[in-house]
Amino acid sequence: MAESSSTIAKPKIELGSKTVQELLLLAKGEQQVPEKYIHKVGAPDDSSVQLKDIPVIDLDLLLTPSSTTQQLENFRTALTTWGCFQVINHGMTPEFLDEVREMTKQFFALPLEEKQKYLREVNDIQGYGNDKVISQQQTLDWTDRLYLSVYPQEARKLKLWPQNPQSLRGTLEQYSRKLQVVTKTVLVAMARSLNLDDNCFWEQYGEKGKMDVRFNLYPPCSRPDVVLGLKPHADGTIITLLLQDKQVEGLQFLKDDQWFRAPIVPGALLINVGDLAEILSNGIFKSPVHRVLTNPEKERISLAAFCLPELDKETEPFESLVNESTPKLYKKVKNYDRTFFDYYQQGRRPIEASKI
Ligand code: OGA
Ligand code: NI
Repeated sequence: MAESSSTIAKPKIELGSKTVQELLLLAKGEQQVPEKYIHKVGAPDDSSVQLKDIPVIDLDLLLTPSSTTQQLENFRTALTTWGCFQVINHGMTPEFLDEVREMTKQFFALPLEEKQKYLREVNDIQGYGNDKVISQQQTLDWTDRLYLSVYPQEARKLKLWPQNPQSLRGTLEQYSRKLQVVTKTVLVAMARSLNLDDNCFWEQYGEKGKMDVRFNLYPPCSRPDVVLGLKPHADGTIITLLLQDKQVEGLQFLKDDQWFRAPIVPGALLINVGDLAEILSNGIFKSPVHRVLTNPEKERISLAAFCLPELDKETEPFESLVNESTPKLYKKVKNYDRTFFDYYQQGRRPIEASKI
């Protein structure tokens, strides 16, 4: 892939790609949005998008014997229709989730020079920055982010873990440990809901599985009609766990060819199926397409945690879900997240390439 061939010594991120916050500072209140962010086709057209409740799943009840059947049935329905659900009783208090949101806001509110200490380097995914620019045709997302690998421990690049705000490292550590517990419960429930061996999804992720987190900031945007916070995409994960902003909406899911706004449930985490769980389930679970809109007045934050198999682990539909009446729908894939971003930036879905 053609990275910049400029003679300027070692640019830390691709030339010409400023963070959105940096652009806004430079614009000094001017309302113009740079061309590169404007969607000429597929503009959001938000006018008729409705708010729709996404199934709510009580994690406490999901695996208790007495309530299993009905709960698991609802859970399975959520995964096969929406491909996402809001999870409550996940073991984290509302106060703790507020703390996580607060540190996210505090990080993005730091002066630019402070954040730039954690800048993403060319060809790396971890660090602070914005969209990786892989082509001139790419329409950019109106978002800044801090991307960090949390598990396995060896994948951590601690020099990119902010020391400011001071609580960030400790809170992130605590938060991700709790997310691992939630992840395990959800993956076991996914297996049970398909009458499969309890550990089959967990083994794909397992003790060595990767958890990457992405802190997202969506600054206010003067052209929400033509600019997107995130382009439509599905996640290249097994599952994704998302902590949404407590006040500002923006996330939308595509269901039956229609966009729906995802409501804010302050104490909940929003979990969605990723492409790899769609593949493992041979298409029974749905990895939903989603996008983020921008808001003309308010900034929005979110924190996404991506669960991925360990390096070089192969993913294909579980054998017991493949038979004459339900033939195998997907080819074997591995290191899926690597190709994922290139497809994403071209507005394509990598899962199409793995369909048989
Ligand atoms: C993502 C994502 C949604 C959001 O990071 O993949 O879809 O609300 N985020 O930030
Ligand atoms: Ni996503």
